[in-house]
Amino acid sequence: MKVVKNISEVKNIVNEWKQQGCTIGFVPTMGYLHEGHGSLVVKAMENSKVVVSIFVNPMQFGPTEDLDKYPRDLEKDSKYCKELGVDLIFNPEPGEMYPEGYCTSVDISGLSEELCGLSRPVHFKGVCTVVNKLLNIVNPDKAYFGEKDAQQLAIIRRMVKDLSMNVEIVGCPIIREKDGLAKSSRNTYLSSEERRAALALSKSIFAGKDMVKEGCREVDILLKKMKDIINEEPLARIDYLKAVDAMTMQQVDTIDRPVLIAMAVYIGKVRLIDNFSFIPG
Ligand code: PAF
Repeated sequence: MKVVKNISEVKNIVNEWKQQGCTIGFVPTMGYLHEGHGSLVVKAMENSKVVVSIFVNPMQFGPTEDLDKYPRDLEKDSKYCKELGVDLIFNPEPGEMYPEGYCTSVDISGLSEELCGLSRPVHFKGVCTVVNKLLNIVNPDKAYFGEKDAQQLAIIRRMVKDLSMNVEIVGCPIIREKDGLAKSSRNTYLSSEERRAALALSKSIFAGKDMVKEGCREVDILLKKMKDIINEEPLARIDYLKAVDAMTMQQVDTIDRPVLIAMAVYIGKVRLIDNFSFIPG
């Protein structure tokens, strides 16, 4: 497994693989890999070669967000990727991705202004720009994204469709800890008391899923129950908890189409997200 920092070197390696008839699976990440990322890599093994990018993208962090603090451990990540059978890690420096004079961005309206976009106004512009650039560099057949970042996944699918990009986007299920907490690199910020309190998110998700499975279609009733569960936890503060159309991210009152029920909740200072989707039969 090679670790490459340079864009032209990645392009050369991938071109060579393509000439040999290989298919390329790509898993973009910001590193500090966990089993959630691992599940994307395992799925990407359906291709002949797997590329993982590890890049903490400054463009997707707001000025008061955790860019500097974001956990990084390239050595551990490389070991994990090697064990999983990854062929290439692309680990550029910010100056390689955004050299002096860089001034292009990819923005997507509407979809990016709801949910996480309301409290993170620059986030999805940064995500779309870097994902676009990474896809141009790696030129994969398929790229793999976690459903935990459901809004990100919907936005990337939209961007790929709107810009007629030549890649298949594959969504992969949320991976949870044994006690239900959705795996996230940001879980490492939690103190032990906050780690316990963070279970309010998954408890609320599981209760919501059960209600919908049992036939609840009224969003007001569903969200009230889900919010009550989170509000019982003194360390938790809801940023948002909403039911939206899974394609447009616009709020719905009734579950009468594919719907995403998504939340962002502060546990102390740590902002965590979780969600579930439902497609009425
Ligand atoms: O989901 C992430 O880790 C990031 O948003 C991504 C897609 C790697 C872009 O930086």
